[in-house]
Amino acid sequence: MMRVGFLTSGGDCQSLNATMRGVAKALYEKVEDIEIVGILDGYKGLMYGNYRMMKPIDFSGILTEGGTIIGTSRQPFKLMREPDENGMDKVLAMKNNYAKWKLDCLVILGGNGTHKTANLLREEGLNVITLPKTIDNDLYGTDMTFGFQSAVNIATAAIDNIHTTAASHGRVFIVEVMGHDVGWLTLHAGIAGGADIVLIPEIPYDIDKVVGAIDKRTQVGKKFTILAVAEGAISKEDAELSKKDYKKKIKNNKYPSISYQIGAEIGERTGQEIRVTVPGHTQRGGIPCPYDRVISSRLGAAAGEFIIKEKYGVMVGIRNNEIVPVPLEEVAGKLKMVDPKSSIIKEAKSLGICFGD
Ligand code: F6P
Repeated sequence: MMRVGFLTSGGDCQSLNATMRGVAKALYEKVEDIEIVGILDGYKGLMYGNYRMMKPIDFSGILTEGGTIIGTSRQPFKLMREPDENGMDKVLAMKNNYAKWKLDCLVILGGNGTHKTANLLREEGLNVITLPKTIDNDLYGTDMTFGFQSAVNIATAAIDNIHTTAASHGRVFIVEVMGHDVGWLTLHAGIAGGADIVLIPEIPYDIDKVVGAIDKRTQVGKKFTILAVAEGAISKEDAELSKKDYKKKIKNNKYPSISYQIGAEIGERTGQEIRVTVPGHTQRGGIPCPYDRVISSRLGAAAGEFIIKEKYGVMVGIRNNEIVPVPLEEVAGKLKMVDPKSSIIKEAKSLGICFGD
């Protein structure tokens, strides 16, 4: 008999259920005697022993369902080696539950933080296979993460909808896009939505250049400007600060987010009317787009094959449209960022998009 634990961890996204369905289908298809343990609310369930036994029916009808049927939570990696409020050793507790449930392996769906803990569990001797989840697309070792394209669709729709109202009123609109410390989502939604200015963390902006780009549009008779601004966008001056000083500065900032600060600066300098739109967590919600359903199904099926072959200690990634196993130690602790010198940036600049540099 084979027993496999499923766990979803970190911020949710649209295609988690589709991915679990892929793994489950592949296992139910090929392994005669298989039990799947749904570990509830991420690593928390593994620590505190919360689970439910899954049945094949649980994985039916969830291909298009957003969120995660087994729940998730954020459990910071940096606190993993610290005891909980009752003095419990978290890592030991996770290992004990793994043994108690007689698991042959753990299937972990998650992003960056999740992968650090997954690698720690591997180092502690557990059999682990991970799947690359995040709307941020910032996981090292894979060209694409599931959730990303669905989020691109939503962020693009937000920019599309802003276009008509921006044009009617002749205003400057800022759409703030998620993505944590990287600009993939903003870059893709910005290009897809025809944003005039795209600000991403990898290219610190000069506010004079941003204002210059708006003025240039005004001079040629364009009455509105749309900026796609990453939540992690940073000015040239702030990029010079140490991480600690920058964090301190942000903490004392009177604006709720970077977009409001940029909006105030632009308003002051251009005299134009500014509006800020923050789609926020809507970017993680709703149904997965067809692209995500396809990669989730492929990644899930491949994970099933790896489990059957006992190929553990890897993330199931996509490179050049092929599914590949990537050693967890290569993935954990690294960010995949937008390269400012990459061709997509050059092409976007050829289209006249200003990056504020
Ligand atoms: O990592 C996914 C993400 O949505 C980021 O884009 C964003 O910065 C963060 O999670 C928001 O986290 P939370 O849901 O904990 O507010």
